[in-house]
Amino acid sequence: MEKIIVANHKMNMTLQDTQEYIKVLKNASFKPIICPTSIYAKIFIDSGFETALQNVYFENKGAYTGEISPWQAKSLGVKYVIIGHSERREIFKEDNKQINKKIKKALENELKVILCIGETLEQRANYQTVLSKQITEGLKDIEDRIIIAYEPIWAIGTGIIPTNEEITETTKFIKSLFSYDVDVLYGGSVNKNNIEALKEVNVVSGYLIGGASIYAEELIKIGEVVS
Ligand code: 13P
Repeated sequence: MEKIIVANHKMNMTLQDTQEYIKVLKNASFKPIICPTSIYAKIFIDSGFETALQNVYFENKGAYTGEISPWQAKSLGVKYVIIGHSERREIFKEDNKQINKKIKKALENELKVILCIGETLEQRANYQTVLSKQITEGLKDIEDRIIIAYEPIWAIGTGIIPTNEEITETTKFIKSLFSYDVDVLYGGSVNKNNIEALKEVNVVSGYLIGGASIYAEELIKIGEVVS
């Protein structure tokens, strides 16, 4: 099956970077899901890319200065949303309760949800407890299918990645918590140099790529290796 490639640009590109990026990426032989800084979402949609937001609020409309709602995202043509990224959890203090509300509102608006989960290095020995809590509380009272992105926090932006055996074991554990065959993406320091080795992990449905994904040529290389 074709691997899902999600490019999380975080807060890294200017409008000019975005325009150059699209010129190059338009020629890719595979279809990445682009998760740009929200102000550029429309540009990617108009250029024919499947587009995700990096976050949404848990209300559809109202006096919430600075927030973006799933309802607004849908009206723009956004198809996916990342919810619960570790940077949102750590820096913006999002907890599982808020994440649960965001997921519900996103699903109500027919957005596909990519729920990020992951453990810190200190939690590594207890990863099962940490990940199950994030899943159980994040998905409380939710039946709809979602996508999981497993991103060990110690692997994000560090250049350190788990072994293929560790990714396989953790992915299988995550899958065991679902009543359906949930798609699990791996994220954390994926780049053009380690993708050959990473693609040997068959249980993974794709990759959530941060730093390496802001370079169109590098993203193309990664996509070509796995597709
Ligand atoms: P890096 O690929 O830069 O480690 O980031 C991973 C990530 O957080 C994607 O959401």
